[in-house]
Amino acid sequence: MLGTFLICLAALVPLKNYSYTIDESYHELPRFWTSTGFCPPGDIERHNLKSVLNSDEIQMNILQIAALPNAALTHIRIHWLLKLVKFVEYTPAGVPVYDFNDLDTFIVDLDDLELSPVIEFMTDLDGILMDNPDIESFLWQDFSYQVAKRYLNFLGAEKVLKWRFETWNEPDVLNYNRLNFTVEGFLKYVTALRKGLTTAGHRLNSSLHFTLRGPAGLFKLENKHPLCWALLQICNSKIDQCPIDVLTYHRKGQGLATDVLESSRQFLEKAYEKYANIRSIPISNEETLYFHSEADPIAGWSTPQDYHEDVRYAAKLIYIVLLHWHSKLQNAEFKNLETISHDNAFISYHPYEFSQRTLLAHFRMNNSLPVHSQFIQKPVYAALGMLSKLGSLATDIETLPLNGSQSGIWLLKSVSVSENLLYLSWLILPKENTTNFENFTLHRHLPFVLSNNTILAYVIEILEQGYTDPAHIWRTQAGETPFPNAKQRAEMRHAQTPRLQASGVLTSPELYVAIGDFQPPWILLFRLCSNFSSILKQPKKLLLRQVTTGEVFLSWREAEGSSHYLKTYEVWFQTKTTSEWKLVSENWHLPFPSFQFAPMDSFVNGFYKVRGLDFFNRRSEFSEITEYVEI
Ligand SMILES: *[C@@H]1O[C@H](CO)[C@@H](O)[C@H](O)[C@H]1NC(C)=O
Ligand SMILES: *[C@@H]1O[C@H](CO)[C@@H](O)[C@H](O)[C@H]1NC(C)=O
Ligand SMILES: *[C@@H]1O[C@H](CO)[C@@H](O)[C@H](O)[C@H]1NC(C)=O
Ligand SMILES: *[C@@H]1O[C@H](CO)[C@@H](O)[C@H](O)[C@H]1NC(C)=O
Ligand SMILES: *[C@@H]1O[C@H](CO)[C@@H](O)[C@H](O)[C@H]1NC(C)=O
Ligand SMILES: *[C@@H]1O[C@H](CO)[C@@H](O)[C@H](O)[C@H]1NC(C)=O
Ligand SMILES: *[C@@H]1O[C@H](CO)[C@@H](O)[C@H](O)[C@H]1NC(C)=O
Ligand SMILES: *[C@@H]1O[C@H](CO)[C@@H](O)[C@H](O)[C@H]1NC(C)=O
Repeated sequence: MLGTFLICLAALVPLKNYSYTIDESYHELPRFWTSTGFCPPGDIERHNLKSVLNSDEIQMNILQIAALPNAALTHIRIHWLLKLVKFVEYTPAGVPVYDFNDLDTFIVDLDDLELSPVIEFMTDLDGILMDNPDIESFLWQDFSYQVAKRYLNFLGAEKVLKWRFETWNEPDVLNYNRLNFTVEGFLKYVTALRKGLTTAGHRLNSSLHFTLRGPAGLFKLENKHPLCWALLQICNSKIDQCPIDVLTYHRKGQGLATDVLESSRQFLEKAYEKYANIRSIPISNEETLYFHSEADPIAGWSTPQDYHEDVRYAAKLIYIVLLHWHSKLQNAEFKNLETISHDNAFISYHPYEFSQRTLLAHFRMNNSLPVHSQFIQKPVYAALGMLSKLGSLATDIETLPLNGSQSGIWLLKSVSVSENLLYLSWLILPKENTTNFENFTLHRHLPFVLSNNTILAYVIEILEQGYTDPAHIWRTQAGETPFPNAKQRAEMRHAQTPRLQASGVLTSPELYVAIGDFQPPWILLFRLCSNFSSILKQPKKLLLRQVTTGEVFLSWREAEGSSHYLKTYEVWFQTKTTSEWKLVSENWHLPFPSFQFAPMDSFVNGFYKVRGLDFFNRRSEFSEITEYVEI
């Protein structure tokens, strides 16, 4: 697949204004890392699930996930989501009628935020499965048909084709296998789901194909995990009748990102050796960031880990992405890698505000009236935002050696090219485990010569341990309080986005960065574009959501492709239509489409508008004005 996209930039030069001086292989870089997930807390039971999913915390968590730049995260996998569906009655023909209202509400909200669900067929169908063991296959087939058809009619094919349908999560794990699937029963279940989805996609002229993913397995020894291995076996024996389109598995590491890759590779090697025909099936590792240690092999998302708090976790996510990219290019086993997913959309709880496997730190403010939740974005959240700014073509990872043999710096070069535009985006970070940088200065010639017909401008942003590091502020300046006050929260939020390290007009085709000055780990993004790049598009759908009295969370949508050239956003506010507009985001670097407005000296009722600034400080149009009235 990939090999055929081999492109030499030098060969791409209908670029009038640049001539490339380096021949390098660039490959189409698919966004394979834009998926996250969580499991709702509490009982796996409809009423609990409904109230949990409607809770302020979860709603705000999802809103924040959606408030990353365009397509930084696209899919969210929520275990047991289909338990929201209620059985009502059978039709005279014996077909179940379900009440989808609660699921509809949730799906519509998600759709408004431009997020797609990963729909796992994990439910007991509100009890009717237990009562009708003899028609299980029929019930599953009908159910997957009803789910897909309903949302196809509701939202249209374009959206629902982006959804991911998946079989039962980790069916071999007793804690999940609540239906007590046998091998035979499980295979029947998967086949029935496939049939239902196929029927739902059936059209007279051109049928739609809804992909089914599975078996979301750990794939431990075959006698311990017979269900998942059995599925591979039947796919191998009749590949053209294999019910799944994407093979999903969960492989974890022991602290280092390289372990995850190795463990993944070992699994694939074993699976392909046994079942050679399944090599053609795309693969997806869904729990890449799920590390455990020798000492604590069952550590889950809630087990606190130091490194989850700060830039270390952000760097790990990037290592995982880069290693998968490298493997996709270089290793036969990973050629068909479709996606990876980070299971990190959970909500942390006291006293592990920062240290659980989450994108955000969560503070439940029990000491205030009303009790409410405050979220701080962790560096891992910012790292996803940075990744979304990579170009559409990228090289393999390049390692710049440092003095020690193990040490080095990783460089991922990406570009987007069109007609006569250039967008260059380089991601740079110390190789995993590198700590010693001496006085290293990164110096690279950029792959073009400057011309007099174009101005090039750049932006350098960085995440740095101890600096863009809200947990560090919380520990060192806020005494690890469970209830940070307004000032402490503002300080943490100032440190939650990448820091603007440098920006300006490029005067020579070179990049210099004194890297020895940064405290590792750090993640640096260097972006460059020309003054011919289009003006930023107007931000859309400005949304205001109350956090608490006197505090509001703003988020908006960026137009596709627009965010590459974005340096920062500005948020403007007026109290009355007759009063003056004030820039309320002065001194904030806002590379992502959200802002928490919590003025210490004024009210938040009034009117808001936002706009973007590009590398040349050219401004987009303002968004439409949105009024906020506190209730
Ligand atoms: C699965 O087995 C457990 C233990 O044997 C039992 O308690 C439970 O009711 C069974 N569940 C179903 C859906 O049959
Ligand atoms: C197929 O049929 C649908 C309506 O059923 C129509 O909207 C669509 O344009 C048709 N597509 C083709 C390729 O004919
Ligand atoms: C706030 O109250 C909830 C519910 O009583 C409790 O679970 C939580 O631990 C409390 N949080 C803090 C920070 O005290
Ligand atoms: C590189 O390592 C050598 C030996 O380990 C040492 O003598 C030298 O000073 C190092 N260079 C720098 C720039 O630190
Ligand atoms: C990482 O560093 C630790 C401790 O310095 C070392 O034991 C380990 O082998 C290193 N791992 C890699 C992959 O370099
Ligand atoms: C490191 O850089 C500093 C400031 O740039 C300089 O003063 C110092 O001599 C350098 N040290 C080495 C070993 O190169
Ligand atoms: C750009 O302009 C300068 C001064 O006008 C001139 O010396 C130089 O040759 C020009 N460069 C190119 C590549 O045309
Ligand atoms: C870009 O800059 C060049 C050099 O100053 C200028 O000639 C050109 O008109 C500019 N283009 C745009 C679209 O601003």
